[in-house]
Order: sequence, then structure tokens, then C-alpha cells
Amino acid sequence: TKKAVLGPLVGAVDQGTSSTRFLVFNSKTAELLSHHQVEIKQEFPREGWVEQDPKEILNSVYECVEKTCEKLGQLNIDISNIKAIGVSNQRETTVVWDKLTGEPLYNAVVWLDLRTQSTVEILSKRIPGNNNFVKSKTGLPLSTYFSAVKLRWILDNVKKVQKAVKENRALFGTIDSWLIWSLTGGVNGGVHCTDVTNASRTMLFNIHSLEWDKELCEFFGIPMQILPNVRSSSEIYGLMVKKKKIFLIVILHFQCLGDQSAALVGQMCFQDGQAKNTYGTGCFLLCNTGRKCVFSEHGLLTTVAYKLGRDKPVFYALEGSVAIAGAVTRWLRDNLGIIKTSEEIEKLAKEVGTSYGLLKILIICGLTQFTNKCHIAFAALEAVCFQTREILDAMNRDCGIPLSHLQVDGGMTSNKILMQLQADILYIPVVKPSMPETTALGAAMAAGAAEGVGVWSLEPEDLSAVTMERFEPQINAEESEIRYSTWKKAVMKSMGWVT
Ligand code: G3P
Repeated sequence: TKKAVLGPLVGAVDQGTSSTRFLVFNSKTAELLSHHQVEIKQEFPREGWVEQDPKEILNSVYECVEKTCEKLGQLNIDISNIKAIGVSNQRETTVVWDKLTGEPLYNAVVWLDLRTQSTVEILSKRIPGNNNFVKSKTGLPLSTYFSAVKLRWILDNVKKVQKAVKENRALFGTIDSWLIWSLTGGVNGGVHCTDVTNASRTMLFNIHSLEWDKELCEFFGIPMQILPNVRSSSEIYGLMVKKKKIFLIVILHFQCLGDQSAALVGQMCFQDGQAKNTYGTGCFLLCNTGRKCVFSEHGLLTTVAYKLGRDKPVFYALEGSVAIAGAVTRWLRDNLGIIKTSEEIEKLAKEVGTSYGLLKILIICGLTQFTNKCHIAFAALEAVCFQTREILDAMNRDCGIPLSHLQVDGGMTSNKILMQLQADILYIPVVKPSMPETTALGAAMAAGAAEGVGVWSLEPEDLSAVTMERFEPQINAEESEIRYSTWKKAVMKSMGWVT
């Protein structure tokens, strides 16, 4: 049979907290040609702990690549046209493995994990000099969220890791490093690296000098020899090694980008002041601040946005996040059982069109005999929108110029009720691309643009297959404000109840 004629193709591994995907794009139009998705388990061994199996994550990548290539074959698309693979990944999640056996030495400690609360309390009392020591170097507050304290916990509590460090066998990495090391050969010469965006989320990386910071490593007690090499987000890291069971037979170049930076690239937010919000497991709003490292006065983080090439300049972003977004859908499905599939939440919310006074914060308040599962579904969506409004307000105050619209992407954006609610609550238009896989697209774009690959120019014309859908606010400004302030009041009250 005749093979379809296309331009060069670029693949992207999108390894998120809830699932892994492999997607293949046409680099001339950004058309998504085929993809495959596998859900990833999360383990909760104790309250507040969240772990994942690094091997399951790696195998899910193999499975997704294999299945996507099979699907491309069925479409008569020649997989030898795939010129490079980009990786976008859940950030901060911490893995330590043995470089001689290729085996993880402990489960991955996920970004959501809160076990390091006491480590953080102890460390915050020991901060040298002024309280700004960590923030001024990293842009981040000392918090359980970032890799340094997770790694500290592993080093303190896992005997196998202590032994491997002593014997110089241990390697540390976030998910990007673990995957790239494994996929580029593992024990047979795998490349141990990360990119500036992922490094900037470890709390060990100096975002000004773009190097691992010796003083920070000493402060957190991290041996520097276990850290990966830091590279730009768009260059060739290594070649993918063919695995027997893998359908893929071409040799590909790798590049990586933290998932939120990837989405910023995929939305082409290359100008100072452009922002995007990605609705994944969590919800992450990033605003490009250009070459300037802006420090927030309203609780936002400063992070590396991207550095698209070895000799290219670094760009920074302000970031605010909602920890639980898509995760709330999974909770309604797996813990409450009120929906069977993630898509059902939209159907339920649509049935009522209001939460009928039910508010979801850390607690659910306003339950009456009239409340049914549709109201719970609606309130869950509303909670994501209210929290996004809170971040957007902080972002507007820090940047000085209010955003005129919000660019959005991620799995949850296919939910039209959510998108309309978001526009109503923000009281600005919400603009979403027809193809919601912007994170993967950004990783593919960065991979395709890398020196030595050169099949993607990062110009808007290369996104001709992506059209935009716009959601305008459908309520008036006063109603929008009343809804938001009612939720804010409930948050303030709940603070007294939960502390
Ligand atoms: O910082 C964590 C973030 O990168 C996770 O993203 O897509 O898994 O919600 P996601």
C-alpha cells in the first residue's frame, strides 16, 4: 500500500502525574497524527505521602511508543520520518537509581508528597544569613514541594540509597533524567542529564548562574556527584536505544522540558507578559517575564521558563498553581465513585448548571438534603476556577498590566462547562487551542528546533493545524465578583476550621 506523504515528524513523550502519552506531530502544520495514553498508578502509603513506581513509568513510555507506532503504521505513515523526540514531564518528582543495575532504589516521591513537612521546619530554622537565602538563588520558597527536601528524606531514610551513594553507584534525577538515562542506554552508557527548567524546580539550582549551587547542596546535604548534567531545553542529548519489544526502529534525538514550560512554548508565549494556564493533575499558570528574573510580592514563584538552545538566552516566568485540578476528577471517580469516567463530570455539572450554594475548598460546605452528585461535580469544577482567579489576581498585581485574556490548555479544557465557568469567574475571555495537547506540542517543537535536527522553526505558520476556541464571560462583572467573594469568604472561614 502507498505510504502517505508528510513533512518530517517529531514525537513527544508527555509524562504527567496521572498518565503517560506518546504523540507524533507533523512539524509543518503541528497536526497531531497519532498518540497513545496509559494511566499511571499513584500509591498513598501513608496520609500525605504520594509515590509512583519509576519502572511502571518507564514501561508506560515503551508501551505508548509501541502503540503509537502501530497506529501510525495503520495510517500508512512511515515512522522513519520521526526525526526527534522531546520529553515533557511532571516536575520535582524525585527518583534515585543504581547506575550499575539500572534499578530504582526507592519509589519516585511525587511533587504532591508532604512527608517532608518536618524536614522543612527544621531546615527553615537553620537558613544561613537572611531568610532570602533559598528564594534569592532559586526563586522558590523552602517547601515540601521541591526535589531537594524529597531527596534529603530519601538519603536519610533509605539504607539502599545510603550504601549506593557511598559506593558511588547512586544517580538522582527528576522524571526527565530517569527516562532519558534509561532510554539512551541505561547501564550501557545512558546519558545522565536534565534541562534548566527541570533543574530550576529542585531548589538546588541557581537560576542566575544556571548551575547547581554549591552552598545550596551543602545546606540540604546533597552530594553533588549524584546530580545530572544541566543542558538547555533544546539540544540533542543522546540517541534512543532500540529495545527489542519496541516497534520503533529509527534512532532518535532526545530533548526535554518541564511540562509547564513545554506548555508555554506550545502556546507560543514567547513575549514578555504572555501567560498560559494548563489544567492537568494540578493547574499551573505561568507568565513569561522575558530575560528578567521577577520576584513576586504576592506569593508566586520565579522559575526558568526555557532556554531554547545551548547559545540561546534564558527566559524566566512567574508561576502560580492549584495543586488539585484534574486530580479532583480522579477523586470523584476513584474515591467517591460518583462518576465512572473523567468525562462524566461535565455531564453531571451540566445537569444542574449551578452548585446550589455548595462550596468546595479543603472542606465541602453548604450541603443540604437537596444536594446531589451533580452539585458536587459542579462545585469541584468551580473550585478550580476560583483558585485560578486567585492566582491571576496575584499575577496581575506583580506584572502591573492585567491580562486581557487567558490562554489555556490541558486535558480538562475539553470540558466546556469548566471553560465557560472560568471565563465567567475571571471575567476575561478564555482562549483554548483546538488541540489540547499543548504540553506535548511544546516538547515536540523544542525537539524539532534543536540544532542538528532543524525541522521546526518555532514560527506561528508552523501551527497552521491549530485553531482557537474562545469563551467570553456570560455573566456581568457584579455577579462574577459576588461569586468569587462568596468563595473567598468560605475559604477564610474554613481556615479556622481546618487549623
Ligand atoms: O509541578 C508539577 C507539575 O509539573 C505536574 O504537572 O501535568 O502532572 O499536573 P501535571
